[in-house]
Amino acid sequence: MTRRPETIRGTTIAGTGMYVPDRVLTNDDLARMVDTSDAWIVERTGIRERRIAAPDQASSDLALIACQRALDMAGLEPGDVDHIVLATTTPDRILPSCACTLQQKLGATNAAAYDVFAACTGFVFGLGLGRGLIGAGIADTVLVVGVETLSRIVDYTDRNTCVLFGDGAGAAVLRACAPGTGLHAVDMHSDGELGEVLEVPAGISRNPASDETVAGHEHFIRMQGKKLYPFAVRSMEESTRRCAESAGWSASEIDLFIPHQANLRIIEAVRERLGTPADKVYVNIDRYGNTSSASIPIALDECVRSGRLKPGDKLAIAAFGGGATWGASSMTWTLPLERSTRASANGALRAAIS
Ligand code: ACO
Repeated sequence: MTRRPETIRGTTIAGTGMYVPDRVLTNDDLARMVDTSDAWIVERTGIRERRIAAPDQASSDLALIACQRALDMAGLEPGDVDHIVLATTTPDRILPSCACTLQQKLGATNAAAYDVFAACTGFVFGLGLGRGLIGAGIADTVLVVGVETLSRIVDYTDRNTCVLFGDGAGAAVLRACAPGTGLHAVDMHSDGELGEVLEVPAGISRNPASDETVAGHEHFIRMQGKKLYPFAVRSMEESTRRCAESAGWSASEIDLFIPHQANLRIIEAVRERLGTPADKVYVNIDRYGNTSSASIPIALDECVRSGRLKPGDKLAIAAFGGGATWGASSMTWTLPLERSTRASANGALRAAIS
């Protein structure tokens, strides 16, 4: 784990934004496609519906709106961004990077832009990278975005996976701040031994696309959900504890905990182990399903715009995902309430005009 040395510049979140596509796919819709039911999905996962990107929407299109909203809240222009760190498992294409496509659409002409592949932990890894860039004086403003169009790599004939995933984007603007405020710790881990537990078997160098790979549904997500479950609970609990301790808090002192939204039962198990009261854990999995790298920044933006997060609050986030990867972060919230709610009103106005 990297803890912020008190001598280097601090990093804080100056704005957040999110976007989910309009189309809603309900559990009943899925029950007409595969052998499942609303009751099974709700009981085992907590998911009721998820959003699905329109055919003409790629990941960069979703990310663009989330980033515009985050910059709007931060009171910054695209030209102010020094780095774009885009976390995804579903870029528009393998080449160019999704971040470069986003940079062009956003008009962030001064930004270095690149993708991070860390599955559902991607946003946490992006925060770690952004904090490193700012702390080292390489950048003043870093746009971290998690975006997924998982519906494009989900096999809608596989009931083990198709009920879980959804599409969306969330972004956060990181800025330099005084040492001792903002982000306290970012914990980042990987274990390649668990690689095959969650994979897309074909499409790149190991197993290039062919008629056979397409016929075998090898370009879609395959998951051994039972193996992931205990790993998810243990890794998120331990990582959150490390980050809380590093900030000088006990886990029970956390004001708001935003876990990766993969399964309500996993979230509940982590919450119980941490001893965090239910009203301090944010859950929106019922509305969006698992949006992988986008799940934490989407939840974060909802908390910011609804006033759920207030200056001085002790915030912890935690994620796990394919790779395997896992991590967490602890931060003291610094964004003034007036800014997030005013930006929200501006955003609504802008959306109404466009
Ligand atoms: N509807 C009805 N039945 C189903 C469905 C479904 N959608 N999916 C599986 N089943 C069946 C299985 O076939 C199995 O039937 P069987 O006993 O006849 O073989 C039965 O339900 C039980 O299956 P389990 O896998 O034991 O169900 P479980 O209670 O473990 O729940 C789940 C499955 C939800 C996938 C759970 O294991 C889980 O959430 N694991 C973690 C998955 C996860 O978080 N993935 C994403 C992490 S990484 C990332 O976010 C990208």
